[in-house]
Amino acid sequence: MGKAVAALAAERGHTIHTVVNRLENTGGKALTAERLTGADVALEFTRPDAVVRNLERLIDLGIPTVTGTTGWLGSFSQVQDLVRQRSGALLHAVNFSVGVHLFFRAARELVRSFRGRSEFVVTIQEEHHKTKLDAPSGTALLLQRELVNEEPGRQFPITSLRDGETLGTHTLSYTAPHETVTLSHVARNREVFAAGALAAAEWLPGRTGVFTFDDMLFGEPG
Ligand SMILES: NC(=O)c1ccc[n+]([C@@H]2O[C@H](COP(=O)([O-])OP(=O)(O)OC[C@H]3O[C@@H](n4cnc5c(N)ncnc54)[C@H](OP(=O)(O)O)[C@@H]3O)[C@@H](O)[C@H]2O)c1
Repeated sequence: MGKAVAALAAERGHTIHTVVNRLENTGGKALTAERLTGADVALEFTRPDAVVRNLERLIDLGIPTVTGTTGWLGSFSQVQDLVRQRSGALLHAVNFSVGVHLFFRAARELVRSFRGRSEFVVTIQEEHHKTKLDAPSGTALLLQRELVNEEPGRQFPITSLRDGETLGTHTLSYTAPHETVTLSHVARNREVFAAGALAAAEWLPGRTGVFTFDDMLFGEPG
């Protein structure tokens, strides 16, 4: 993702101030004022075991930060508190595709249509490449949370598959004995996420608080 974002940023005329890689950045130690002074915004796509320390350093340095790293929801409130204490700016999205966020809206609508129809068994399936570290995907977990809010009495179990090169497919299915209704989103290349993350990085500077991609796409909550 880092490479995809950097390539697109250069194409759009942005200057890449610095690129930080894993070997020099144990515990976030490469994220220093000397290295980052002059950067308008940071984009963080790493791994679940690195992201929290990176975000803490970036927020401490007062750099508006966009992160797409998944698999660290358990530490989210700790990072959120730090952003508030420091009057910083953080935008986090488990999925930077505009299509996925519209898919979520359609999925909520589907749940409303099927509400109370117990003859249908509902499932969320997600499929990703075999090197993805976290399962279920952050997108599937977020979808599940939103759908449970829509119909609290219903279970929305997630099935995860890790195989091949799949960049991210999410499907909501309602299956009855003789028919199936499915709604799917398929990411066909990384550029879709890079474009969304970059749009978020253009939007965030000048704002204060913790934001989601939805806030950017559909307006901040009033
Ligand atoms: N929000 C979205 O739309 C979206 C889309 C795609 C992926 N993601 C998520 O974004 C994250 C990255 O995905 P990816 O596909 O790019 O994974 P990846 O191919 O495994 O790349 C992760 C990169 O992070 C580097 N890294 C690890 N620890 C680091 C540290 N402490 N400091 C600096 N760099 C560090 C790794 O360096 P080495 O190569 O040296 O190990 C590697 O280059 C994952 O959590 C993934 O689930 C989100």
